[in-house]
Amino acid sequence: MFFPEYRGRRLRRNDTVRRMVRETHLRVDDLIYPMFSAFGENIKSEIPSMPGIYQQSIEHIVAEAKEVHALGIPAVILFGIPEEKDPLGQDAYNDEGIIQRTIRAIKDAVPELLVITDVCMCEYTDHGHCGVIKDGDVDNDATLQLLAAEALSHARAGADIVAPSDMMDGRVAAIRELLDANGFNQIPVMSYAVKYASAYYGPFRDAADSTPQFGDRRSYQMDPANRIEAFREATLDVQESADFLMVKPALAYLDILRDIKERFDLPLVAYNVSGEYSMIKAAAEKDWIDGDRVMMETLLGMKRAGADLIITYHAKEAARLLNG
Ligand code: PBG
Ligand code: ZN
Repeated sequence: MFFPEYRGRRLRRNDTVRRMVRETHLRVDDLIYPMFSAFGENIKSEIPSMPGIYQQSIEHIVAEAKEVHALGIPAVILFGIPEEKDPLGQDAYNDEGIIQRTIRAIKDAVPELLVITDVCMCEYTDHGHCGVIKDGDVDNDATLQLLAAEALSHARAGADIVAPSDMMDGRVAAIRELLDANGFNQIPVMSYAVKYASAYYGPFRDAADSTPQFGDRRSYQMDPANRIEAFREATLDVQESADFLMVKPALAYLDILRDIKERFDLPLVAYNVSGEYSMIKAAAEKDWIDGDRVMMETLLGMKRAGADLIITYHAKEAARLLNG
């Protein structure tokens, strides 16, 4: 292949040719939309750093779930903002908790929409950590029981997939075991297998009211400098019977997405996190970038890197563009 016999531009000459040789496709089927369910009634409050994304009470969540389904988006992932938080995050595994009631309401109104639930303690604990605290640090093994109880309670309420995001060791196995023992062997676990301690979660923590009240999450979430460790984390989750692997955040970790895709054969999920969304929204608001084009290019880049599915706050906007 040498110039001038080979000319790369021959396959870029017009849109039809470009369509024919296109290697990567972003589809509405690839998108998962995150939603924040808040305790109370008649609540719809926009998250200041995330234009277009709201904390909402159940009736508004259900209305938006219908809209999401009508756009052809296959799934939502739910986060809860409970009435009360306490050291043990009790709302998380209460069958009448905020998420449990939200799951039932969505499955009632739009049964075909797949409901994924975030399984973690930080939205429910008053200290904001992803597990229970002992001697100033998160106690791994004591937290496992609570996470498993939370996942079971979500499954009982009708969740289709549970997604643990806590980064405790052994949690996929603990959840799998309790689900199976209770007749839920058909509920997949979507593991946040490779989750970094990232400043990109900033806007989410405002949205979910889940900023740690002391310290940070670096004793359980991964060091952004590490790549080999990601293989260990993913390997462990595969051994514990995870059904999906996730890499989070996505944008600054596209290399990790590629690496995990090449080494593991489970469906791979990228989490296009809150800070990534906020950056595009802020720059577009200032007219510094074309927000729609940068959004689509970013999502396509995640797919090209190896993601099969993308959790993204852009899901509705992207679906509208894809549906034409
Ligand atoms: C809970 C959780 C977080 C996110 C998803 N699940 C926050 C965190 O770990 O601090 C982040 C999502 C986002 O930033 O969009 N553990
Ligand atoms: Zn958490």
